[in-house]
Amino acid sequence: MQQLFDPFQIKDLTLKNRVVMAPMCQYSVDKQDGTPNDWHYTHYVSRAVGETGLIIVEMTNVEPDGRITNQCLGLWSDEQIPAYRKITEAVHKHGGKIAIQIAHAGRKAEDADTPVAPSAIAYDENYKQPRALTTEEVKAMVEKFRQAARRAVAAGFDAIELHGAHGYLIHQFHSPVTNKREDEYKEYTRFGQEVIEAVKSEMPEGMPLLMRISATEFVEDGYTLEDGIEKAQAYQQAGVDMFHISAGGEGAIAPARHPGNHQGYMLPFARAMRKALYVPTIAVGSLEDPALANSVIGNDEADLVAIGRGMLRDPYWAIHAARQLEQAIDIPTQYQRGFA
Ligand SMILES: Cc1cc2nc3c(=O)[nH]c(=O)nc-3n(C[C@H](O)[C@H](O)[C@H](O)COP(=O)(O)O)c2cc1C
Repeated sequence: MQQLFDPFQIKDLTLKNRVVMAPMCQYSVDKQDGTPNDWHYTHYVSRAVGETGLIIVEMTNVEPDGRITNQCLGLWSDEQIPAYRKITEAVHKHGGKIAIQIAHAGRKAEDADTPVAPSAIAYDENYKQPRALTTEEVKAMVEKFRQAARRAVAAGFDAIELHGAHGYLIHQFHSPVTNKREDEYKEYTRFGQEVIEAVKSEMPEGMPLLMRISATEFVEDGYTLEDGIEKAQAYQQAGVDMFHISAGGEGAIAPARHPGNHQGYMLPFARAMRKALYVPTIAVGSLEDPALANSVIGNDEADLVAIGRGMLRDPYWAIHAARQLEQAIDIPTQYQRGFA
């Protein structure tokens, strides 16, 4: 039986435990240049000091107009690489591993003059009216994801996560609610598959590709869990090594389609996806009770457990959870007196 603080290996990536820091936008970039600063360095490196097995850097966008806000991170220029490298090197020094979530916000880009999307359908009346990407622009967008992946590898990341969830661009393409195209990209998973193949071509063979996916949509007439599993299957065939199972984010929630806000509210989705696809998974969603997180691993419901808001409250969540569970964890020498 596996436990939360047992190591985990996927391809050439070995994690010292099963705890993941979920990607969380910090909206903290200075000068609108998409480049991480001291805030990002401190924020991510402190979670490595806190013994988190895998840190996933927040949604990092492939072009300036792909950001939710102008304070979001980007990876559209080689000039941005050194600031990321500083973070990855420090995380590695503390024995942690670090991935980056590569994304485009599509119609949810709030500061773009005119956001782009698969089809010209606004998120709601408070969002800007997007314009539909031309076929050529979709192909150019795939190339932007490829270039961002190349930069992520050059910056020393251990893995890449594609953001295919929460109503952002990849999700917009695979959702019948947002994709009303008539060209080849009307095939819902085609854009995502091309992005996966492009990104993979830039990654070393042993580096795993993760993808965050909304297993189901919460809007009326959105896709179901069964549809979500089919989409993930197409992405798995295109090269995804591990899925990070979330849900929703594409529009107004239809109460009957939302699981509520109980602890582990998205676990049934992670369980179903893992069972159907025999694929490694990360579970997320109100899992910060250490006993619950440990049971997710022990009961074989997921391979890794991501903690979001719990890690905003406590950079040393992993150390505290291990102590509570009485599982072995290395505490940085400098801090051992605090736990004697
Ligand atoms: C401040 C904040 C920012 C977030 N930004 C992202 C993001 O950049 N990418 C993403 O996939 N999810 C994002 N999320 C969702 C989290 O990764 C996570 O899935 C969600 O908070 C549920 O996990 P939790 O209950 O442990 O917080 C964000 C959540 C919060 C609270």
